[in-house]
Amino acid sequence: MVYSCIVSFRKSRRKQHSGLMVKRSAPGRGLGLYTEVPIKRGAFVIEYTGHLISTSVADTLKTKYLFEIDEKVTVSGSHRGNIARYINHSCEPNCEAEIDGTRIMIYAKKNIRAGEELFCDYGDEYFNEFIKPHGCKCPKCIEVFGRRGGKPARSRGSLLVNKKKR
Ligand SMILES: C[S@@+](CC[C@H](N)C(=O)[O-])C[C@H]1O[C@@H](n2cnc3c(N)ncnc32)[C@H](O)[C@@H]1O
Ligand SMILES: [Zn+2]
Repeated sequence: MVYSCIVSFRKSRRKQHSGLMVKRSAPGRGLGLYTEVPIKRGAFVIEYTGHLISTSVADTLKTKYLFEIDEKVTVSGSHRGNIARYINHSCEPNCEAEIDGTRIMIYAKKNIRAGEELFCDYGDEYFNEFIKPHGCKCPKCIEVFGRRGGKPARSRGSLLVNKKKR
């Protein structure tokens, strides 16, 4: 299938986990997605929803709310209903994305306590291009490098395939 432009908007097929809310995150991270209730390891958390657009079109856009599925298809996640777009990056994430066709499902990677912020690993390409130059402000890097954040070397792969702006 060729996605030369925005083709459709898809609502989530699954009900998101209860108790999710958007709040200001730590300094330097902007807004973040938090849970007000505990989430069990392996539980479905939320779907990253939006229009399907071609990755070549996505590459020309300025928004940071893009999730690249592959070199052909990207999900444009800027719409208000997609609170998954506020999930910030961590080098020690508590969530992970799984691609199911052209759907992006976020699952808990470990048990998450009430009040915790949700994080995914954005992947090496995004990290090296957009996070590393300003210092990673994830909890792990703040713990290791202090509030200016860290610029750790990254060479391992990631479950996340998005490499763009998220
Ligand atoms: C998809 S947005 C996540 C939501 C964003 N915090 C917001 O308020 O819209 C990705 C952007 O959030 C910021 N961000 C996410 N994780 C970060 C981290 N670990 N360290 C520094 N900035 C981060 C960066 O500006 C990144 O380009
Ligand atoms: Zn980090």
